[in-house]
This record gives sequence, structure tokens and C-alpha cells, in this order.
Amino acid sequence: MTIDMKDIVALCKRRGFIFPASDIYGGLNGFWDYGPLGVELKNNLRDLWWKAMVVTPPIGPDGTPVQIVGLDSAIIQNPKAWVASGHVGGFSDPMVDCKETKKRYRADHIYVYILKRPDDKRDVLENIEEFFSEMPVYLGFVEGTEPEVIAKKYDKIYQKTFENFEKIDKPRQEKEYHPVELSKISSKFLSQIVGPDTKSPGTLTEPKEFNLMFDTYVGATQSEDSKAYLRPETAQGIFLNYKNVLDSSRVKMPFGIAQIGKAFRNEVNPRNFIFRSREFEQMEMEWFCHPEEVEKWRDFWFDERVKFWRAVGLASDNLQMRKHGDDELSHYAKEGLGTSDIEYKFPFTDPDFGELEGIAHRCDFDLTAHQEHSGQKLEYLDPARDNERYMPHVIEPAAGLTRGTLALICEAYTVDEARPSGVYLNFHPALAPKKAAILPLTAKEEHAAPATKLYLELREEFAVDLDIKQNIGKRYARQDEIGTPYCFTIDNDTLEDGTVTVRDRNTMAQERISMDKVAEYLREKMKANAGGLKAAA
Ligand code: GAP
Repeated sequence: MTIDMKDIVALCKRRGFIFPASDIYGGLNGFWDYGPLGVELKNNLRDLWWKAMVVTPPIGPDGTPVQIVGLDSAIIQNPKAWVASGHVGGFSDPMVDCKETKKRYRADHIYVYILKRPDDKRDVLENIEEFFSEMPVYLGFVEGTEPEVIAKKYDKIYQKTFENFEKIDKPRQEKEYHPVELSKISSKFLSQIVGPDTKSPGTLTEPKEFNLMFDTYVGATQSEDSKAYLRPETAQGIFLNYKNVLDSSRVKMPFGIAQIGKAFRNEVNPRNFIFRSREFEQMEMEWFCHPEEVEKWRDFWFDERVKFWRAVGLASDNLQMRKHGDDELSHYAKEGLGTSDIEYKFPFTDPDFGELEGIAHRCDFDLTAHQEHSGQKLEYLDPARDNERYMPHVIEPAAGLTRGTLALICEAYTVDEARPSGVYLNFHPALAPKKAAILPLTAKEEHAAPATKLYLELREEFAVDLDIKQNIGKRYARQDEIGTPYCFTIDNDTLEDGTVTVRDRNTMAQERISMDKVAEYLREKMKANAGGLKAAA
């Protein structure tokens, strides 16, 4: 069953997971606030990642425990760092403007649909000049436009363009649409292309590079000298502290430095809820190693990261691994093994997948650049290799914390028309914002008092809810919608035999257990459900 993102966004707002930032002022495109449950879910994912990387990192491929230390670097750094990293010069997207509507698009997000008969064996890209000489007008659409919308607009525009449309349209019935990214089409054909929001051709400008970094000014004066940037990735803070960490801790090559934190990108088209936002959080680890060992570590970290996403509850068939093509390689990965992505099938990408995490071989690009620009020696003198001096290479697993949170919500969203809420969130118990709810059957003192006592006992150890008012069906529905795995109900039988009802969120099955065994029950369930997670309790 396809899930509509609108329903997920509505549930997130209704139940307090995610709100548009500045909601009462109409929001701000690309910015989101995490509500009481959203922040718990996000923190749970953050803590599990931190635990998997820094607190209890895995045993390495050769049986030795790996060493990873944590870091929390400043969001604003010396602007020279961003010149060295290549972000000031090259962190940009190609943009096109529409002269008519004043709208701005990413050139690689507009697709021009070339019409070709099924029996035409020509490759569209290789013969693009011919196609443009045969047909005076082609139409551009933003990525993801529905096929019916494309066909309808073609009919309308062609009817207007060609006087003898009827004659042209007949053979066109046998044609097929072939999308070609606008950025791959020479700008000499722009005069023949109709923009996504216009009816006539020639309104799109040539692509221009647009830098994605947010800038600001440090101190009282605003001039080029005081200009600084909000970090577009957490990774650079790690490279800037590589020497400090080596000099102050006992790590030896190979080792990792991990960081979780906010990153900012002035994305041209923020979209798909929190998938692509302008302020987001990353979980990044830079793994420093000898250049000859990169392949081994790349494969190792790739497997570890896939295991992690499976363990937090993303189903295998919703995860896909993809190696970047040569045309997608970042400036730092061009010379090396490239980047492989772990992708998730989001409802808005389905049947395709969207990036969740990239595992990149950054070579020695960053350390070499910072060494050159700062004048500080960053090479490593390796006593384990006869004092060989080398610039370490880096394998970088870089994941989105906010994007990961979205994947967890999408994965958990389960439609079930048989229950009053019509839907429940099937979170892994380790991720669920609330582990259990205590629900007295009625608000009367005889039910509410033991429920409060149980709640006070459980809240010492678990994130639990006490919900006294409303009928029990409505309260179950609320807990289903926020993904609470267990509900404990106190009723008249409790008063007689000291037992409570446990209701399982997924199966709705109920059983009775002794009230003084509830904490133990919850502890066991958390352990049993922990799967591959060490930190589930
Ligand atoms: N240090 C490498 C780096 O930043 P990236 O692929 O640009 O690589 C890593 O970002 C991860 O950060 C992505 O896989 C994605 O999960 C997340 N991410 C990147 N841009 C984002 C955005 N605009 N909104 C939300 N998450 C984003």
C-alpha cells in the first residue's frame, strides 16, 4: 500500500513530532521544529549512533577493537577553513531562473521530456542536436512530475504551437517521453524549452552556480573581513581538530573521530518534509588510516552502517546500496574509491530510493588542504610502520540524523483500518519516544491511585506516560499513533488480584501479568526486542 506523505506530515504535527518552524508566522521554508515526541525519537537515534560509534565501537576486521573518540566542534569556524575545504569556491548547485515567473530551479532537478517513437533506436543524449532540430519545442518539468500532467501539458502546448496539430498528434501517439536532465542539454537549446511553470519557450536562463553556504558576520562590524559561515557539514570540525585529538589523547592510527550536530545549507529547493531542509543534523565519523588500508576499512564501515540501519528497524527491502557514478563524485572523492550510499525507499521516492548515508573515501584531500592553508604539519609519524611519515586517508560514514528520523517515521507508519486510530507507528522499542503507557480504566481514585503508583515506579527507569482521562479506546488510539509499544491497564481485577492488562501495540493482544512484575516485563521485552542494538535497554 502506498503511503501518502501528507498523512505522515499531518500525524507528525497532530501528535507533536515535527512542526513547521515559526508556525504561527506561516512557517519558514526549509526549517522545522521538533516537538516533545520528535525530539525524543531523534535523541534516541542520536544516542544509539553515538553508542555504536563512540561508547561501544565494534571489533575491527582483523579482530582488534577499533578506537573512536567523540568531538563537539563550533558551528562557526575561521572562514579560511572553508576556503581550504573547497566549500567557498565549490559548494554550489547549478541554478536556472525563469524570466517570466521569477522562479528559481536547480538545473539538475528539471527534466526536459524528449519525444521519440518506440521504433527510433537513436540514443537521446547522443543525438540531442538532431532531436532539437526535428521538433521546435520541448517541455521541461521538475523532477517527480506525474506522467498525466506531462502528457496533458504536451497536448495543450503542441495544440498551440502547431497549426496542423491533428496531423502531428497522430504519429505522436506512438511516441514515448524520454526525460533528460536540463543540466545535460546545451544552453543553445534553451530558446526551444518551455519552463515548468510557463506556457511558452525561452524563459529559462543559463545555469549559474549558487553557493549553498549561509554567511554571517562575526563582531560588531559587517564587512568582508568579518564574514563567516555556518558549517555546511560537521566533518570539517573534525579535520580542524585532528591534530588536537592526536596530541591530547592516546589514539593511534587507524582511529576515528565522531561528531553529531547541526549543519546548514541554503538549499535551493528544500522539499519532502524534513528530507531536504536548510537546517539539519548530521552524524559523521572520519576514519583515519594508512592509504593502503582504505579498501578494507571502506568495506568494513559500509557493512557496519548497513547493520546499524537494519538494527534500528529499517526493513531490508526498503534499504538499497548504491555506488556513486563518476559524474556525481564530490571534489574530495574523485581520486579514490568514490562514495557508496545507503538509500531508503521513502514514500515520496517510491519505487526509487533516497540517500540516507554516504560512505566516502575522502582520500587525503582535507588534511592536505588544511596543511597547505594553515601551514601546520598534519602528517602522521607511524611508529607501527618503522616511523613512516604519511598523510592519512579518510573513510567517512556520513549520515543524516534528521533524515534518519524521517526514515524511522516512514518505516513505522502502518495503516490498520481495523483499529480506531486507523494507523500506528511501529517503532523499535529502543527508538519509541515512550516505552509504555499506564492507563487506569477509569479516572476514579480506586483505579487512578494504583496507576499513579505504578507510573512513579516505572518512570525511574523508563520513558513512560500516565494517561488518566478519556475513554480507554481513545487513549489506546493515542498511544498507537505515537508508537508506544506497551500499554498497562489498571481495572477492577487489579484491585482484587493485583494484576494488570498488558496490550501489545502491534498485535493488540492482551494478557494479564502481576503488577509487581511490570518493570521486569518491560526490561525483558526491551532486551528481547533489541535485535542488533547494544543500547536498547
Ligand atoms: N561530510 C559529507 C557530507 O556532508 P552529504 O552527502 O552532503 O555528505 C551527509 O551529507 C548526509 O547528511 C546525507 O546522506 C543526508 O542524510 C544528510 N543531509 C545532507 N543534506 C541534507 C539536507 N539538506 N537536509 C537533510 N539532511 C541532509
